[in-house]
Amino acid sequence: MELPAQLRQTVDELLENTPLADLKAAAKTLSDRYRTETRDGRLHMAADLAVKAYLATRLPATYAAVRASLDAIGDARPDWTPESLLDIGAGPGTVLWAAFDAWPELQGATLLEASAAARRIGERLAAGVAVPLDWRSGDATIDLDELQAAELVTAAYVLDEIVPSSLPNLIERLWQLSADTLLLVEPGTPSGWRRILAARTQLIAAGAHVLAPCPHQQPCPIAAPDWCHFARRVARSRLHRLAKDAEVPWEDEKFIYLAATRQPLAAAGPRVLAPPKAGSGKVDLKLCGTDGQASQRLFTKRDGDAFKRARRAGWGDTLAD
Ligand SMILES: C[S@@+](CC[C@H](N)C(=O)[O-])C[C@H]1O[C@@H](n2cnc3c(N)ncnc32)[C@H](O)[C@@H]1O
Repeated sequence: MELPAQLRQTVDELLENTPLADLKAAAKTLSDRYRTETRDGRLHMAADLAVKAYLATRLPATYAAVRASLDAIGDARPDWTPESLLDIGAGPGTVLWAAFDAWPELQGATLLEASAAARRIGERLAAGVAVPLDWRSGDATIDLDELQAAELVTAAYVLDEIVPSSLPNLIERLWQLSADTLLLVEPGTPSGWRRILAARTQLIAAGAHVLAPCPHQQPCPIAAPDWCHFARRVARSRLHRLAKDAEVPWEDEKFIYLAATRQPLAAAGPRVLAPPKAGSGKVDLKLCGTDGQASQRLFTKRDGDAFKRARRAGWGDTLAD
């Protein structure tokens, strides 16, 4: 999954004259802080250079994860088009770009971001976007009162930067602001999954319906040390490879998401929870079922159309019944 051409071009222009050694150092600091989930009261992207390192090394991957999560919403509700977006912890505007790619009909967006540097760069990247954008400065844990509800509310790769004790209030407020759907996206790590799971429990108790990825409202059937997550393969730009001393021209971004909605909808079928294991005339799928159970299921040619559907299904897809 590629960044939209206009975004990629502006990112390239912004990064053009940044000394590689500086970018590398900033990328390393950023990566260390994300990996260790450092919460020391400082924003990871307080400085321009840290935002530039994010653009070079993280933006394509978070964009791909968000875009895939929006696809899951679109698959579950093909007739739904949000007109308004409220994005919390917007960073350089990743969700904005992904949402416009998914729904070009979007009429406008409000973006809340605590870091002035990220906001400035996000505004610059989105300068050519044709609909009204309202970039707000603020801390999501205290500054949500002024905000208007939106049809789609999002927080991508943000919960991991917030002190855990503030998360229940934040989720409650985000749900209040969601006129229709709330989308949370987190890194596909065991701790990212636990945060999504806690939000899921809280949202269901508040009356939300899980739209994706879970095809049911039952307690999650996955138990540690296993965890639910998905992945997208993302091409690494030359600058990304240089900044990370990476040799492989791609990376697999692991992510987990939750889309919760006010509209009760029947799930179309089980969700594929792992890369399919295919052999000659057979495919083995790990599935999360509409009955709330996880299972491993072997499909063979004898299953006819069900086998054909199973053979086409990828990790993260819904397997239509
Ligand atoms: C990892 S970045 C994700 C950016 C973007 N959502 C994406 O998916 O690429 C997290 C963003 O959340 C912002 N952030 C962290 N804590 C915040 C808070 N309490 N209030 C508002 N923004 C916050 C950070 O400054 C950063 O820009």
